[in-house]
Amino acid sequence: MNDELSKRMLQVRNQFPALKQKMSGHEFVYLDSTNTTLKPQIVIDRIQKFYSEEASNVHRGGYQWSARTTTLFENAREKVAQFIGAEHPEEIIYVRGTTEAINLVAESFGHSFLEAGDEILISEMEHHGNIVPWHMLQDRYQVIVKAVKISDNGELDISDLKNKLSTKTKIVALTACSNTLGTINPVEKVVQIIRSESDAAILIDGAQLVSQQQVNVKNMDVDFFAFSSHKLFGPTGLGVLYGKKDWLNRMQPYQGGGSMISKVTLEKTTFNQIPQKFEAGTPHIEGAIGLHQAIDFVESIGWDDIQSWDQMLLSEAHLLLGQIPELIIYGQALNKAPILSFNLKGAHHSDVAQILDEMGIAVRAGHHCTQPLMDRLSIPGCVRASFSIYNTPTEVRKLYEGLLKAKELLL
Ligand code: ALA
Repeated sequence: MNDELSKRMLQVRNQFPALKQKMSGHEFVYLDSTNTTLKPQIVIDRIQKFYSEEASNVHRGGYQWSARTTTLFENAREKVAQFIGAEHPEEIIYVRGTTEAINLVAESFGHSFLEAGDEILISEMEHHGNIVPWHMLQDRYQVIVKAVKISDNGELDISDLKNKLSTKTKIVALTACSNTLGTINPVEKVVQIIRSESDAAILIDGAQLVSQQQVNVKNMDVDFFAFSSHKLFGPTGLGVLYGKKDWLNRMQPYQGGGSMISKVTLEKTTFNQIPQKFEAGTPHIEGAIGLHQAIDFVESIGWDDIQSWDQMLLSEAHLLLGQIPELIIYGQALNKAPILSFNLKGAHHSDVAQILDEMGIAVRAGHHCTQPLMDRLSIPGCVRASFSIYNTPTEVRKLYEGLLKAKELLL
């Protein structure tokens, strides 16, 4: 292993106060970053500073204090735009999270563009957040939701994607990275195929991708891209929807209220420009400012180190866990995020997770909000260990030892 990289990543780890705790008398081993990432001290401090010194509303107060906070809030929007390669800051809409971003598109796109018989294409590996909003349109607009198959190793079946695309396809909504299998989908290639076979709009669920690699929505040529701050070392309750200006300008607002208007009379409302058109009410101001800080934090580490470390942890985990013959691993895609889902043959996933928890190791067990994927794998659920920049090879070994213990107790 690269000693210099290990030293740098140890410094990164030391910036996460949550890891200094003990669980059940053991060192805390947090292996659930796919669920939510821990927060570095610098992000915690930034949010505290907001509440101590800057906690005013935005876009409403004419006085200096509020104007300064508005500037911080809008600077954060510019930072997010730059971080994901969006051309215009107004293409960045603040929402509550990836789920709300997708609901916004489903609701507004549906209202503005969908008709009976239109088709929406998702895939078998989607999180419920990228399935249910589309299902909710089925009865309302008599549209049909179809799902692209996945292969046995957990990759998107490109020939099935081609087969299912048609002139009736109005929107394709796919994850960039499966939260259960870890598969990183070849978004640029998939977008090219969709563009060559249809006029469908393309939405990418980027919830898991943003912490894995540099995203560039322009190069990807996607119409919509959604992600959550809390999976990128930032605060919860704040998400981002990127949408191409042309689409956002033509879509109906998602919610009504203050800020999203240009003029209201008792008879009628005229809407504001984007992004305000989609941001009714007081926004999550400290969320945006905290996300700005989180992005600065990620950029200060750099993608090369982040990716090398994540991939080293993933290989180590595959290598060690692969030595347990009773362990079935789900998802063997060539391009994978550091997410490892598995079952111990003959043991219930919740029991395995509980034994690990008693050893201070936090993993998620269940269907991971991917029930159609569980059906595809013919399992009720599984255990998922996911790794991030603050994990260590020692922790991967502790997981392995914990699984040996679970095997001893349960099989
Ligand atoms: N929070 C969800 C998970 O754990 C996305 O995968």
